[in-house]
Amino acid sequence: MTDLAQLQSDALARIEAADDAEALEALRIEFLGKQGSISALMKTLGKMTPEERQEQAPKIQGARTAVADAITARKEAFEAAELERKLAEERLDLTLPAPQSPKGSVHPVSQVMDELAEIFADLGFSVATGPEIEDDWHNFTALNMAETHPARAMHDTFYFPDQDADGNRMLLRTHTSPVQIRSMVKEGAPIRIIAPGRVYRSDSDATHTPMFHQIEGLVIDRDINLGHLKWTLETFLKAFFERDDIVLRLRPSYFPFTEPSVEVDVGWQDVKGRRVLGGDGDAPGHGWMELLGSGMVNRRVIEFAGLDPDEWQGFAFGVGVDRLAMLKYGMDDLRAFFDGDQRWLDHYGFSPFDQPTLSAGVGAGA
Ligand code: PHE
Repeated sequence: MTDLAQLQSDALARIEAADDAEALEALRIEFLGKQGSISALMKTLGKMTPEERQEQAPKIQGARTAVADAITARKEAFEAAELERKLAEERLDLTLPAPQSPKGSVHPVSQVMDELAEIFADLGFSVATGPEIEDDWHNFTALNMAETHPARAMHDTFYFPDQDADGNRMLLRTHTSPVQIRSMVKEGAPIRIIAPGRVYRSDSDATHTPMFHQIEGLVIDRDINLGHLKWTLETFLKAFFERDDIVLRLRPSYFPFTEPSVEVDVGWQDVKGRRVLGGDGDAPGHGWMELLGSGMVNRRVIEFAGLDPDEWQGFAFGVGVDRLAMLKYGMDDLRAFFDGDQRWLDHYGFSPFDQPTLSAGVGAGA
């Protein structure tokens, strides 16, 4: 038994003498590791008679606990000493200026969406959303585009191979118009919403990307007419482009979900070789630019959404958010919007402090 007592006191002395964490770890392996000397003694217990075991086990286990405790204590002492050293050595000068670190910016699309929300909030519109993975019924059928409707072909739709639980064909929404249906079904009438979001079409060149952004507008109430639509669009575009001389031209058009439908052009003028929005597009040196689609909500759409079209009427419009951003902030290639190029983002991005407000001008930070 003096052997065990000897082993224990040697071990404790050597642990006490270890002068770094590495040496301590080597000792732990030597005594307590799988092949360690104390572990080897533990293994002898199995071959002892019960009487011997009853006598030896507490002693061997006592030695193991003593060694393990000593190692833990020594380790804590090393850690405490290391912390002391760091505290004594390291200095932090809080008066130094912060290092120049990489900073993020608000993407023009997000900024423009915030601007639009601010403008329309002032006109009493709230913001509605809908899913980007949509079903065929909301994206087409309820918008008066039956299965065989030719307008469906124009949308270059991305379809999913599977159907949903109710047997609906699933797709990536091709426009924000399904939010009209969802909002009417959910909220009934009257209603005044805008719905910004991502939409998808299989199309790609300098002015088309397979994913882009739209904002939908919908007003449903009693006795709404085309004059309300025109005034709303004029007010919105004047506030957005921050010019009082924005002139609109309404052209008859066709959308299955509006009747009548109107395409809206905005007048521009040539300023030193650049097209600047504003002014009568028919004046010399001026022109018209197609900006958005709109119209009076088709009564069939109002019926599909579960409302009585004899009681409720309204108007709707849809406009490309990316295009609005390009026109306002002067980018010429849509694809760059989604490249994630840091130089582009540094140049066209906005500071998070540039919160659009009507009082300061919605594009004040640009
Ligand atoms: N959804 C149409 C499009 O994507 C735009 C639109 C919206 C037209 C609302 C009329 C009314 O082209």
